[in-house]
Amino acid sequence: MTNNPSYKELLEHFKEVSELKLSNLFKNDSLRAKKLSLYYDGLFFDFSKNNITSDTLSLLIKLGEESNLHKSIEDVFNGNKINNTEDKSVLHTALRSGCHNDVIVDGNNIAIDVQSVLGRMKVFCDRVRNSEHRGYTGQNITDIVNIGIGGSDLGPILACEALKPYKGNLKVHFVSSVDGYHILDILSELKAETTLFIIASKTFSTVETMVNANAAKKWFLDSAKDDSYIKHHFVATSANKKAVKLFGIEENNIFEFWDFVGGRYSIFSAVGLSIMLYIGYDSFIQMLAGAHSMDDHFRNTKDFRNNIPVLLGLISIWYVNFYNYNTHVISPYNTRLSLFSAYVQQLEMESNGKSINKAGEVINYKTSPIIWGGSGINGQHAYYQLLHQGTSICPMDIIIALSDKFSIASHNDILVANAFAQAEALMNGKSYHAARLELTNSGFPLDKAEFLAKHKVFEGNRPTNIILLPEISPYYFGMLISLYEHKTYVQGIVWNINSFDQMGVELGKQLADIIIGDIKNKNVGNHDSSTMNLIGHYLNYNESQ
Ligand code: F6P
Repeated sequence: MTNNPSYKELLEHFKEVSELKLSNLFKNDSLRAKKLSLYYDGLFFDFSKNNITSDTLSLLIKLGEESNLHKSIEDVFNGNKINNTEDKSVLHTALRSGCHNDVIVDGNNIAIDVQSVLGRMKVFCDRVRNSEHRGYTGQNITDIVNIGIGGSDLGPILACEALKPYKGNLKVHFVSSVDGYHILDILSELKAETTLFIIASKTFSTVETMVNANAAKKWFLDSAKDDSYIKHHFVATSANKKAVKLFGIEENNIFEFWDFVGGRYSIFSAVGLSIMLYIGYDSFIQMLAGAHSMDDHFRNTKDFRNNIPVLLGLISIWYVNFYNYNTHVISPYNTRLSLFSAYVQQLEMESNGKSINKAGEVINYKTSPIIWGGSGINGQHAYYQLLHQGTSICPMDIIIALSDKFSIASHNDILVANAFAQAEALMNGKSYHAARLELTNSGFPLDKAEFLAKHKVFEGNRPTNIILLPEISPYYFGMLISLYEHKTYVQGIVWNINSFDQMGVELGKQLADIIIGDIKNKNVGNHDSSTMNLIGHYLNYNESQ
């Protein structure tokens, strides 16, 4: 990135614009809001409250172009092996492209495989939802338990929460942590005869998931007493059929996905089985359609000035690499989207939290910001204080639906008003003089007003993106997910990193395996003195109980 001519131009440009005030940019250009907002297929993207000018945008787009972004976008859709460390294609877009687009990977038309699994998911979901597939005693399935972690959990749990109003009769539960309380708590409310487990794991080797899957199997067999009943109650979504079969789940109950779908990009694959069971096939297809619409926009909007994921990615790079801001807040205002920030956290930080470029060289610039956030309206009564007056500036995406037929209209007005007000406050702030005047007008003596006013100053000039969805329907939910997937990719391209491996999660796993062995052997093992001390403390405490 730093070798691109546009990077150097951006550095110079930054010196010229970094002192500009957003509020003045609006005062000086009555058309700014219009010029810096986009509308695509119902989604409205207002990026006018960013510390950018038209020149900033031109240079950022030049940076994208010099980073080969046009070709890189085609590489995704064409199935080129862009995951260069693992020699894999990256084709989550093929999961939602329908049966009309052939995508050939290693000589296979994967569109056919995708449609075939989708068809099997439909048949299975319809059978469970229509009570044709029943439990081992002949009772209807009432509860679905998805056991998975990371990408095999965050997407499904988010989607089921976001699309709750579209649910049918089945209840869904999600077990992710290996904290035994998590699964025990959920199972305590369920009956084996009416529960269906989905073991969701791409690799089918993730420790947390396998430990929980075995606990679920034991719990089930304690009631059912017969292995042959497993087929009524256990299915798997995985790319590792062999391991699934070894666990005891039969071939017919495996919903496959493939190496070309990364875990954190798998929500639209068979990993979405719990979603389909919960909201039904038709709504699931709507999700795919929304995601596909955003794919089309991303791929075909060649003028990057109008390409929403490209702009979202480039603007974030502007803050990370030029303003040196370290974090980015995801602030959905609709409660049903509260988990979206956790979802984006994995998506962006696991994809782009890297310090080695594609060629294996150490890079000398920052990559992914720290993604955090949660329900915006709740955040206002918690951490927004820092966003307004703290010493760290945290760019933020505010996401909100224009209408919510499942809410109370007057509540929605308040919700939306708050979202807009926060962005306005963050941008305009409040001066010392305005604060002092407010205080004197409300009766404070001058000396007290002058003292308090200092504490009531808001510097402002803090940037936000606003994303307005017409509603939180399956279609717009799918679109939102796809938007952030592509944003993540854009950043990876400009930073010249492979956004599709996650080698940074491995070391901790390896060491945990060793420590699990130490604990089993009641031995502190061979580690640094702090780690041995901690293991010893754990062993002693539990021995004394
Ligand atoms: O450890 C990280 C990770 O591999 C994620 O990338 C992935 O989403 C998660 O674990 C779960 O992996 P799996 O679906 O293979 O169980």
